Formats: sequence, C-alpha cells, structure tokens
Amino acid sequence: MTDLTRRNLMTSGLALSVPMLLPQVAWAEDRANPATLARSDGAIAPREQMLFDSGWRFAFGNGNDPEKDFGYGAGQADFAKTGDFKLAKAGFDDFSWRPIDLPHDWAVELPFVQDDNGAGDSRQRSHGYKPLGRRYPETSVGWYSRMFDIAESDRGRRIWIEFDGALRDVVVFVNGCFIGRNDNGYAPFRFDLTDFLVYGGKNRVVVRADASFGDGWFYEGAGIYRHVWLTKMDPVHLGKWDSVVRPTLAGNTAKLDLATIVENEGDQSAEVTVEWTILDAAGRMVTRATAPAQRIAAGKSADFTTAATITDPLLWSPDSPNLYAAVVKVLGNGAVRDAEHVSFGVRTAIFDADKGFLLNGKPLRIQGTCNHHDHAGVGAALPDRLQAFRLSVLQSMGCNAVRTSHNSPTPEWVEACDRMGVMMMCETRQMSSNAEGMEQLELMVKRYRNSPSIIIWSIGNEEWVLQQGDMAKQGTAIAASMVRRCHELDPTRVVSAAVNGNNEQGVTDPLDIVGFNYNPQIPEEFHKKHPTRPIYGSETSSAISTRGEYATDPDRNAVSSYDGAVPWGQTPEQWWNLYGTHEWLPGGFAWTGFDYRGEPTPYGWPSISSQFGIVDLCGFPKDYYYYYRAWWRSEPSLHLFPHWNWAGREGQEVSVWVYSNLDEVELLVNGKSLGARKVPRLGHVEWKVTYQPGVIEARGRRGQRVVLTQKRETTGPAKFIRLTADRTEIDADGEDVTMLTVEALDARGRPVPTANNHLAFRVSGAGKLIGVGNGDPNCLESDKAPRRSLFNGLAQVIVQSTKQSGPILIEAMEEGPYAAALAPATLTVRSRRATLRPAVAVVR
Ligand code: GAL
Repeated sequence: MTDLTRRNLMTSGLALSVPMLLPQVAWAEDRANPATLARSDGAIAPREQMLFDSGWRFAFGNGNDPEKDFGYGAGQADFAKTGDFKLAKAGFDDFSWRPIDLPHDWAVELPFVQDDNGAGDSRQRSHGYKPLGRRYPETSVGWYSRMFDIAESDRGRRIWIEFDGALRDVVVFVNGCFIGRNDNGYAPFRFDLTDFLVYGGKNRVVVRADASFGDGWFYEGAGIYRHVWLTKMDPVHLGKWDSVVRPTLAGNTAKLDLATIVENEGDQSAEVTVEWTILDAAGRMVTRATAPAQRIAAGKSADFTTAATITDPLLWSPDSPNLYAAVVKVLGNGAVRDAEHVSFGVRTAIFDADKGFLLNGKPLRIQGTCNHHDHAGVGAALPDRLQAFRLSVLQSMGCNAVRTSHNSPTPEWVEACDRMGVMMMCETRQMSSNAEGMEQLELMVKRYRNSPSIIIWSIGNEEWVLQQGDMAKQGTAIAASMVRRCHELDPTRVVSAAVNGNNEQGVTDPLDIVGFNYNPQIPEEFHKKHPTRPIYGSETSSAISTRGEYATDPDRNAVSSYDGAVPWGQTPEQWWNLYGTHEWLPGGFAWTGFDYRGEPTPYGWPSISSQFGIVDLCGFPKDYYYYYRAWWRSEPSLHLFPHWNWAGREGQEVSVWVYSNLDEVELLVNGKSLGARKVPRLGHVEWKVTYQPGVIEARGRRGQRVVLTQKRETTGPAKFIRLTADRTEIDADGEDVTMLTVEALDARGRPVPTANNHLAFRVSGAGKLIGVGNGDPNCLESDKAPRRSLFNGLAQVIVQSTKQSGPILIEAMEEGPYAAALAPATLTVRSRRATLRPAVAVVR
C-alpha cells in the first residue's frame, strides 16, 4: 500500500485523511455459495448435525490430587461399574463451574510463568511459558460439563457426539457411564451415545481433558479448542467420511467416480440405493447418478459406487477456486434415510522431476508458508471466520499454499482454503505406522480427500531418528506403510514428508515426492543424482524479525527487520533465489507465515512467541511481508523502510531499504535525490542515509514512468486513537468476528510507528471482546483483559457478535499516568440478523 492510497475515516468525530500502512484484506463473502454451505461432512435432513458448542460449564481439576479432581481416581475405580460415575449423572451440581462456550483454550487464559527448568528448553518454554505440564497439576486438567435434552421421538435413531479435536488425553462420560477416550490433540474423534441416553429427558455429558502431556515443541493450547457436534441419524446411514468424489479430467470432460459406504445398524435388513446429485456453485443441478440397489443385512455395510460426468467443468485453481457439491442420499422404502453434502473441485495437480509443479496442466510455483494454528487473543480456539482472515492476510502477500505444520488441521482451515483458493500440504502429527499413528493418518486422509486445495499429504516432519543410522531401515518400513495407506484411501494425491537431511535413506525411499527442510545446498545435488524424483521445499527460511524493530538488541529480545535468519535458516531473498528460479524446483513453504506462541527463538524469556513469522501474531505485516508481496504478486509493489522517527539519532547513518518489483527506485531525502538504483531481480535496493527529521520518499519506475511512490515522515507525538474494522457488518450468529486494528495518530493524522501507549477497550451492544494482541513477542499482558498496549504503533482487538442483531459499540481510551495524551476513539460495527446453525439447546 502506498501513500497514494488514502482513505477518509471518521475517528473521534474528526475527519482524517491519512495514509493506510496496512494491507487491505480482501474478504471472500462466500456464504451464499451453495457448494460451500454445509461443512465437508455436512448433514442434510433427515440427518441432524447440531453444533454442541454453547452452554458448557468449566472447572479446573488436578493432575496430582484426586480430591481436587472431583474425586477422579480417588481410590474407588472410576470405571468399575458402568453407570456409576457420579460426576456425569443428571443431578450433579456444576453450578459453581464457569459458564463457557466452545471452542475454548484455557492455556491462553493462564498467566505467563518464567520457567526454564534450568535446562533452557523446558516444556514451558516451548509452549510459550504457560503453566501446563506435570509440574503444574492445578492448571493442566480441565473439566467440561453440559446438560442436554433428548426427545422421546429420537428413540431408534443413532446419536453420536463428535469432537473436531481437543487437547488432550480426553475421557468422556455420559449419564454416569464411561464412553471413551482420545489421547491425541489433533485428530477428530466421536462416540456412539445411542444406548446411554435418556430419551424424553435430561442427559449430562462430562469431558475431562488433561494437557499434562503434549506433542508439540510449539504452543498447542489446552481444552476443547475445536467444535463439538451432536449428530442424529437413521440406523441405515452413510459411513463417516466414506463418500468420495474422484474427478478425472480428460479433454473438456470430468469423469466423476462416486463411492460411499452405507452401514445398517438397524435390526432388520434394508434395501437401499444411493443417489448423487451434483450441484454447481450456484446450486444448480449439473448431473445425477444412482448406484444399483443392494440389500444390506442388519449389522452389515455395503459399498456403493457409480459415475457421472461434467462437461466443460469450471476448474479449481488459486485464481478461480470453483467448487461443486455432491448431495449424497440413501434412498429406501420410498424415503430418504440419510443424506450429506460433499464439497469438491475439479483440477489436476502433477509434480514432475523436470517441470516442477503443474496445476491444470500449467506450471505454478508453490509460494507457500508453514503455519501453526494459534492467533493473538484466542490461542488455539479460533472462531471460524478467523481462519479466513488469516488466509486473507497470507493471500494478500501472494502466498498461494499453506502447510499445516505439524498436525492435522481444523476443518474450517481446509474449507477456507478450498473456498479461497489456497493449496495445502496437509500433515499428520505422528509419523508412525503403529495403530495410533495410522488412525490419525487415516482420519486426516478420509476427512479431507475431497478437498481440491490439498495437493500433498505429508506423513510427518523431521524424524531424525528414522532418517539415518541404526533406525533408517525401520524409517523406510514405517514410511512405506503410511504411504501405502494414503494411496489406498486416495490414489489421486502424492505423499511426502518434510525431511531435514540429505534424503538418501530412511523415510525418503517410499515417498512420491521428496521434501527438503533447509540445507539449501542439498536439493541440487539430489536432483543430479536422482533426476526422476520430484522435489520441493517442504520447509525453508526461518528468517526472524520483530515487527517495527530495526536493530538486533539481545537486551530487549528484539530482532532487526532487515535481514536475519537463524543459523540453519535463510532470509526470504536467499531461499527464494533458489526455489523461485529453477524449473525443476517448484517452490516451497517458508517457516512461517504467522508468528506463533511458543518456541521463542532466538531468545527465551520474556519472549513467549516465535519471531519466525512473516506477519506477527495478529497478522500485522513485518517488512519481509513486502519482499514476498513484490516477488509473489504480479502487480507493481513498493515498500520503503524503516519508519522515519529516529529522535536522538540525528547525524547518524540509517539503512534505508526498498522492496519493489519495479525496474528502478529513486530515493529522496527531504526533497533531495540520492539517485536511482536498479532493482535486482528477486532482490532489494538500499541506501545509507544520514538521519535528519523530515521525509524520505521512494519513487518506483517502470521504464521512465513513475508507477508508485511511498513516503516515511517523521511524525509528531501520538494524539489520537484510530480504530479500523476489517468488516463493519458481521452476522449476529454468536460466532462471527470483526478484527479491529488499533493505531495511534499524530496531530496530522499520521500513524505513529513507535507508539506504545497503554489502551483500554469497552465493547457494548450486540457484541463482546474475545481477545486482544499487539504482535510483540515479548509482551506478557493478558490476551483476554480488555486492555493492551500498542506495540510499535499497533494493537488488535477481536470482537465477536452475540445472537442479537444491532450495533456494537467499541470504545478505546488511553490508560495510565499519561492518559490525557491520547483522545479516545469510538467505532460502531453493525451485527445483522443471520441464520443460526442448528445447535443443541442449552438446558439446566
Ligand atoms: C524446523 C522445525 C519447525 C521449527 C523450525 C524453526 O526444523 O520443523 O517445527 O522448529 O525448525 O526454525
């Protein structure tokens, strides 16, 4: 965004014409698209799939002391007699427990605790210094409780509780009965409750989550951080994630191989057919196919397959993410017994050892980023809309692919990629062919194999031990089993792994395409030695920088924004000059798009997050963002840095850099030209400038013509607060969010890039504040309190709608001894009436 772009904004009653420094995030308002209306496992009547998110109660248990853990494990065997677990009985009093709605991450609510355990690399450090783990029993176990009604008329249906993911080691009880457990944090899990329910009465579900253990060397969160569903079905129903639409493109025709499984859990045999109706993005029927009828004996299941064709299909690609949908119906006795909605796309994706990556037959460079799943203010518990927000930020710098490092993603991240046109490398958590590892892998592939965005399945990341030496042979065997299973479930996609090493042994052999993490010298050698094996950058860069900082200062845990990477990493320029230039090397995934909590690198306490992000924890761009924007997007781009507020450094030299994809850039300092410099391809230009307050200006030319200009001016002190909402109208569904950017402006309305004022926020009307952040990796302020200091001029407030429509008023004011310095600001966002998703009613 250049200074040429100006917007008028009303702030505190003042009309200001000010430069916008932030990229405009383009929102895909795609809710009206019938091909995407339901979830990928979307239920259609007569199946009911209801959100089970609201109306829960929460309390901490204890990982050491059964008395403080509601008697769990207090001597009497909790599982000895079915129905005897008193906590989950209808009469249990959870009145004193805290009311909460899911998704919920209790880790983000905890204070930060300095605890390096002497070793400098403790679990606390990797998880962002939160008191979780076996040494923090009081805050590592959480209990959730919820009452719900089941109607008498539901008798005879199959009723399941379905979790999209919970962290971690979960035990579920219903009506005093042990129902099941789940020991990993990222794969979905579900339990059949049919036999345990009270029909025509009240039921209680209780979930104990224990986050004492974790998988990550990064922040994972704690609790039921993804959606929960209650699903009611006919006993004759479609198998979970068994419906597959497999398009094969030949000329201008897509042949769709259609397959599913019908299960008969009733006590009588049933004769059924399966009908597939294919819809386009406007909801119009394109074609229909029916599989031959079959009789399924009670307790058995049957495969149903058929085929259909689409002529002149609209192909899916990052530029045109065209989606189709299949409505899959089980028909028997003249009635629909079960139905679901499967979203899919038509496209080809080929990796070639010489030509790189081809999407729909055309070469396309993978301009990817790796990302963990947490965001400022909300930790791991993201409202669905925030997934799309994060993708928009990445897309606005030209990122066209994401890797779900290092775990199976939440469905809303995959659905947003499908809808918005972002390709994915989808990675499972555990690289293992043991039963648990295979189950995690199978669930991931089955769940997401209809998603056109997914171009690579990844069986894991950096499994050093399985890569060489004594265990290399086991590595090959484990990888071979995992690759084989992926191929069985989905023969259409390549399987890979992110390998840090020479890829000559271990897990690499069975892979379809070979991923390289770092080690930029190896891919070329490997290519020469193995000319038929397609390769790509599974993880690159690990450049580090602190947003708005221009000197590395170990005393402040600050990292310069010019060009820094960890010893094993490369700057954006270094890795893209390799992966962006060879035909046989089709690009890769930079570590990371967003900063994430935990793995504080290069410094420890009080750094509580990483500094690898191209954007910070809130999504505010660091300067590197503009390097990618220049070379990953085709339109003219120009970014001048640093800011020009260097009081006290008058007469000293300041490095001035420009990222641009124009031919040459001229720099003017207080009106005087320092000359024009040619921009090297995939590089940048820089000057040394003696600092005097005033203005620096970059003029970017293509040929002789000035195409873009940008200025950095020495601002005055901060005088006003400005609030800007990414969307000024949101849905009154209790789920939607608006993302507010908070800035400090000087008297002339210019953002002050060094402002660090303490601000407080008040949200009233039809919305509530659910989190705050400022992108400072060293900030120990609460993510949940309605206050936050600006960090280098910026903060973020996340406001969520309630189910009431109407205005949401957001007020921001300065706090603390100098509170009079900044004039407060207000902003009104409208929450409009919206259709609510079907949800389980709250009862007490
Ligand atoms: C990689 C690893 C990532 C992250 C990164 C930091 O080796 O796969 O998870 O730790 O290093 O540079």
